[in-house]
Amino acid sequence: MNTVTVHDKEFVTFLDSDRIAARVIELAARMNADYKDKNPLLIGVLNGSFMFISDLMKALDIPCEISFIRLSSYEGMESSGSVRQVLGLQENVFGRHVVLVEDIVDSGLTMANTVTFFEERGPKSIEIATLLTKPECLEKDLDMKYVGFEIPPKFVVGYGLDYDGLGRNFKDIYQLKED
Ligand code: IMP
Ligand code: MG
Repeated sequence: MNTVTVHDKEFVTFLDSDRIAARVIELAARMNADYKDKNPLLIGVLNGSFMFISDLMKALDIPCEISFIRLSSYEGMESSGSVRQVLGLQENVFGRHVVLVEDIVDSGLTMANTVTFFEERGPKSIEIATLLTKPECLEKDLDMKYVGFEIPPKFVVGYGLDYDGLGRNFKDIYQLKED
């Protein structure tokens, strides 16, 4: 078992790059069928999704487009949790088939918020593609059509995911080591 240290914490290998790559191909195969002749607009949520969306798009063999958004780091104090604003949308999504691409859906608050933002802009369809999700942490009723892996509620880094800015460059995904 391979371990890495990020800041003050130790992590152990959880999903290796071959396994991730194989799963991304499977998701892309489904999307190739589902979006044939639909020219989907993939929208990556920065920063975490950059590696996943890159590999996913390379495995698509249909006409498709890409764009990115980021979310404000502002966190409100509502009991509903943090409400983050969607920033940087350049494209008109009206009438488009939109696929929101995330690294991980944890509580689902971020994604629920993002879905609402897009719904208000009149896309023809909107689906979620997330590499990871932690079902035990989910607080929102989200219909996630493309999920790479359902994982336990432990913090993970690598393949785009960070711990305080570090770890995004790892090819594999690592899980926080329990002492
Ligand atoms: P949510 O709003 O609770 O679903 O939070 C989703 C966001 O939290 C993701 O886009 C990630 O940026 C971050 N996040 C949640 N869990 C992890 C993790 O295990 N590792 C790294 N980032 C995470
Ligand atoms: Mg993220």
